[in-house]
Amino acid sequence: MQYNTETPAFNPEAAMAARLQTVPFSGIRKVFDKVKELETAGRDVIHWQIGRPDFDTPEHIKQAAIDSLNRGEVHYAPNLGTLELRRAIGARTTLDNGVRVDGEKQAIVMAGANEGIMVAMLAFVNPGDEVIVANPNWHHYKSCVSLAGGVPVEVSASEANGFSLDPDEVERAITPRTKMLCITSPGNPTGCVQSAESLAALAAIAVRHNLLVLSDEIYARIYYGKGKVAPSIYSIPGMAERTIIINGFSKTYSMDGWRLGWTVASEQLTRAILKVRQYTTVCVNTFIQHGAAVALSADQSCVDMMVGEFAKRREILLKGLRAIPGLSVVEPLGAFYVFPNVSSFGKTSAEMADYLLNDHGIATVAGSVFGGAGEGCLRIAYSCSTAECERGVARLAAALDAIR
Ligand SMILES: Cc1ncc(COP(=O)(O)O)c(C=O)c1O
Repeated sequence: MQYNTETPAFNPEAAMAARLQTVPFSGIRKVFDKVKELETAGRDVIHWQIGRPDFDTPEHIKQAAIDSLNRGEVHYAPNLGTLELRRAIGARTTLDNGVRVDGEKQAIVMAGANEGIMVAMLAFVNPGDEVIVANPNWHHYKSCVSLAGGVPVEVSASEANGFSLDPDEVERAITPRTKMLCITSPGNPTGCVQSAESLAALAAIAVRHNLLVLSDEIYARIYYGKGKVAPSIYSIPGMAERTIIINGFSKTYSMDGWRLGWTVASEQLTRAILKVRQYTTVCVNTFIQHGAAVALSADQSCVDMMVGEFAKRREILLKGLRAIPGLSVVEPLGAFYVFPNVSSFGKTSAEMADYLLNDHGIATVAGSVFGGAGEGCLRIAYSCSTAECERGVARLAAALDAIR
């Protein structure tokens, strides 16, 4: 093509939507890239950076997806997800949350919990609406709120309070523009579980200020407290009408690469989410939904096995970290993360994460990646093998000794 001198040069920066200015690239992904680089150079790295189980997906789940594929179930699924899977989600949620859920009308199958979060923000957040998120927290909420045109409002969850959201602090952050409250329990990066009492107080606040609640329950069954499932705000009377549950298969069934999750909400809220879904991914792969339905409805001993392994690794980490002078650690009650405070060593959390990775081959994520209130801490994901956790603890003790 012939351009004359008047033709403006194409500027990719100027082409980008303004809303992209408000979201950073993921700080976790940067660690992945660095780990890959070190391993390519022949370095041995402890994989504490990634929040995904090291197990294979259980055989019966894989087989169900293969069978579905072999039956020729290769065409579009309903926008909401297959009926079989929605019913299984309804039954599972009814069991876990103690509130009757009709999966046929209240569940939407998502391409991972992350899609559920983004689609929910697009469905409910107007430009300028404020959404309360904990700090530190899984960084997706903030970015999804911003991409939807909303304003994330952070409420700090302190180490002194076990990284639990303080209902009084939440209420102080509410303004006439507040639309939604995000709760992640058990949490990422801290493993903190909101107590039933704090959930009741947060529920009362949501009702008082007429807020929607997004309750991310992706770690609900990786729980080390009493019972098999962490308490949920959805179970509190009056909350089902205003709560959107986010959940998924990645963590509980070791299916992160399948990209499967779900939302559960009232029929009316579900219809709003469906509208966005119809113009985004349309539907999730048909044959993997059959595998997922089997995951939820078959015998759950594979989940018990995996949670049992995580519990052992948690013990190794807690014992090892508590034996390191100068480091403090809050006992996590769920998920597969610990969030030790390493600030006494005189480095920022980013400097400490770089030092541990570059000089000692220990991959963690700086607490500051999850919000300013995470500064001073490191996220350790103990979703790697038990042997790696043991090696990692010994290596970390030596690395911190060297700079004491
Ligand atoms: C709190 C939380 N929510 C959602 C997700 C996303 O899960 P999925 O793989 O289902 O998209 C993660 C993944 O790490 C997470 O930690």
